[in-house]
Amino acid sequence: MAKLWGGRFSKNTDVKVDDFNSSIRFDKRMYRQDIRGSIAHAKMLGKQNIIPAEDAEKIIEGLQGILEDIEAGKISFMIDAEDIHMNIETILTQRIGDAGKRLHTGRSRNDQVALDIRMYLSDEAAEISEMLLQLRSTLISLAKEHTETVMPGYTHLQKAQPVTLAHHLMAYYEMFKRDCARLEDCVGRMKVMPLGSGALAGTTYPLDREFVAGELGFEKITANSLDGVSDRDFCIELAGCLSIIMMHLSRFCEELILWSSHEFSFVEMDDAYSTGSSIMPQKKNPDVAELIRGKTGRVYGHLMGLLTTMKGIPLAYNKDMQEDKEPIFDSVDTVKMCLPVFIDMLASMKVKKDKMLQGAKGGFTNATDAADYLVKKGVPFREAHGIVGRMVFYAIENEKNLDDFTMEEFKEFSEKIDDDIYNAISMDTCVNERKLVGGPAKEAVNSAIAAAEAELK
Ligand code: ARG
Repeated sequence: MAKLWGGRFSKNTDVKVDDFNSSIRFDKRMYRQDIRGSIAHAKMLGKQNIIPAEDAEKIIEGLQGILEDIEAGKISFMIDAEDIHMNIETILTQRIGDAGKRLHTGRSRNDQVALDIRMYLSDEAAEISEMLLQLRSTLISLAKEHTETVMPGYTHLQKAQPVTLAHHLMAYYEMFKRDCARLEDCVGRMKVMPLGSGALAGTTYPLDREFVAGELGFEKITANSLDGVSDRDFCIELAGCLSIIMMHLSRFCEELILWSSHEFSFVEMDDAYSTGSSIMPQKKNPDVAELIRGKTGRVYGHLMGLLTTMKGIPLAYNKDMQEDKEPIFDSVDTVKMCLPVFIDMLASMKVKKDKMLQGAKGGFTNATDAADYLVKKGVPFREAHGIVGRMVFYAIENEKNLDDFTMEEFKEFSEKIDDDIYNAISMDTCVNERKLVGGPAKEAVNSAIAAAEAELK
């Protein structure tokens, strides 16, 4: 097939180069955005009398027909037409003749591809935001069921102080809320309309850039033609947002994997979200959570890949930039695959409340509260810390919890201790007295849940 740009060449490209150069394999997924962009461009060209109005109409009709045929699976793209942009233009011209040849007036593939990716990725970002909203609402529903489910809170993966599962889940709610805000912010910089930048230096035609932006739902147009065609910050930013989402999912998965182990036994994944072993009959593995944790690596890798691709590129467009697509598409696909399975896995998991409570009771998670008890009786905190430290040492030696001490034992450590210590260091008190904003007490978590519900409305 003759190349659209074949005029100044005396021979065809090598077939190996056709294959090497071509991006249709992966950029065909932007066909909808490419056609929408071309329709807006043609409409504007007609309106501005840059091309005859009837040609603009033919182009628009032709493009709509192509869109329908692509969706009906009737079109096979050609490798030697390089990319989605030239494939569609070629098919258009085959179908409507000369009018099709006027579509590319005042436009370059450089600003065209910049437009297409911006549109494609902002559509995808919107879908991902929607999934994050579902995840946030799943977290809220689960949290509501578990405001009294006491579990150990950890630092250094060592038992620290008791919290509730609701409090723990709402911590993730906050992370995914920030992820939504980050995506929104990223899309704000992505949704800037680059057509009119031309190949690099704008164009002499009296294009109406604002009109095209309005047709495509963009609020802004790019301010510099060189930047308009060579900016891929938005891909990198999105790759960053997606990496952070995966990091959050991965931390959560890591916890679910630990919690599913025999050693913790805090949760059990539903059978539909677990797999067995080909050799060990007893096994039930949290593969789904592990795979999500594993896929985080590729999303991080794409972020680094994109940064590296862009780092040495002189202005403006260079073909290197065609390498932006596979990584960012894969990142988008990966996150879109992980979120729905994660949500269902979480919603279907069984929580073993008694094991969590048992876990919270061991490991002296009430030691801070014992020290605080002494402080309330007038002992300076540092001294109280020392007294309780010695109590813990004694408890370990004698294999008991602080709550199991007799009054005589308590008195050995401090005369200030009375019967009310038992209530002061109960799990219920430890959790529910921590009622500052942001704390694990039932009332504090209920306010957090109410605020979250209001946000989601
Ligand atoms: N397929 C190219 C890309 O993805 C489109 C732009 C090509 N422009 C050019 N002058 N070769 O970046």
